[in-house]
Amino acid sequence: MSWDSLWINANLATMAEHSDAAYGLIENAAIAVTAGQITWLGTMEQLAEFDVERVEVHDAHGRWISPGLIDCHSHIIYGGNRAAEFELRLEGASYDEIARNGGGIIATVKATRAASEQQLFESAAQRLAYFLAEGVTSMEVKSGYGLNRENELKMLRVAQRLQDEFPLEISRTFLGAHALPPEYHNGDEYIDMLCQQLLPEVAQKKLADSVDVFCEGIGFNVAQTQKLLNAASALGLNIKAHVDQLSNLGGAKLAAELGALSLDHLEYLDASGIAAMKRQGTVAVLLPGAFYFLRETRLPPIAQLRHAAVPMAIASDANPGSSPAHSLLLMLNMACTLFRLTPEEALAGVTRNAAKALGWQDRVGQLSVGMQADMAVWDIQHPAELSYNLGKNPCVGCIKSGQVVF
Ligand code: NIG
Ligand code: FE
Repeated sequence: MSWDSLWINANLATMAEHSDAAYGLIENAAIAVTAGQITWLGTMEQLAEFDVERVEVHDAHGRWISPGLIDCHSHIIYGGNRAAEFELRLEGASYDEIARNGGGIIATVKATRAASEQQLFESAAQRLAYFLAEGVTSMEVKSGYGLNRENELKMLRVAQRLQDEFPLEISRTFLGAHALPPEYHNGDEYIDMLCQQLLPEVAQKKLADSVDVFCEGIGFNVAQTQKLLNAASALGLNIKAHVDQLSNLGGAKLAAELGALSLDHLEYLDASGIAAMKRQGTVAVLLPGAFYFLRETRLPPIAQLRHAAVPMAIASDANPGSSPAHSLLLMLNMACTLFRLTPEEALAGVTRNAAKALGWQDRVGQLSVGMQADMAVWDIQHPAELSYNLGKNPCVGCIKSGQVVF
């Protein structure tokens, strides 16, 4: 066979979309890779028909292999941290109040502006290491703590460098519209500046693939969101939005109708938003880390999303303010315990559906022929364990595009 490498004696949680088996399970299986892509997979019995001489063979010894995990929403590049705000919140202050008093996102903006590009790279690389150790092979990373030309571009360059220096693919998202920078007093003027100056430059220099916006009372209103997302689409960038986290401004319906790949948070999502997402094929990205850390009480409408067959992804939202998370597996547990997803839905949320949230579903997120060979190897007895355990990392191997990472 013209295979480069072969993994044998594995249980595959393929997460294949059209499989009838739970988790797309293939027991006692093998998976073959050629030029970084999956070129064959099947049972050990079926493999016996092939001549596998001159193929590099890896014996999984009965361990489980899943698609490499995908974190489709993170803010891992930032300066400083907000542990002091955490203390304030424990003394009774709310996330909203802290933000309105110049803390919150703006506190991180100050620390990020003060940090050098090298410092930002090093701190982000340290955070990234936790995710890589859990079998994450693709990750979305946002800007949004610079809020001016110099510092937003600095963040996007750091995101590019993370991809260049680590064995994972990074989807870079421009989140210039994360908060109103201290230099501006009018959201409309800032959005105009983004649309006329910064966004075209980011697109022209290919510094980002997507554009995001925080549509919220403490962020940007629906008209501003619409203007920005329209400008982004016109420049050929993918669009997505933080919507309905703390209140419902109607941003979900609008952004879905503009063609957003994903809408993220969604605690206050209503029926018209769900209907628009269903029509447009928008992915619902659930962020249980932020729900947990902000002690939110209003749950995203999971049953309605499930009923409407809107694909649900799960992400870390790793950021210093609302989700200082360093584990995607912990998010699986929280998605199950807090949001009542099944362990299978949770795993689909960080594989197949997370790939859809990035527009990468033709390449990653499932183990099937033609997909990129991004795989995580697990020392578990059953894939439900990935959601069940708290604070345990059973990842014992990681393969990116057919290359063994560890
Ligand atoms: O996704 N919602 C807006 N952005 C982040 C929080 C950022 C911060 O507090 O620094 C989020 O939760
Ligand atoms: Fe976020």
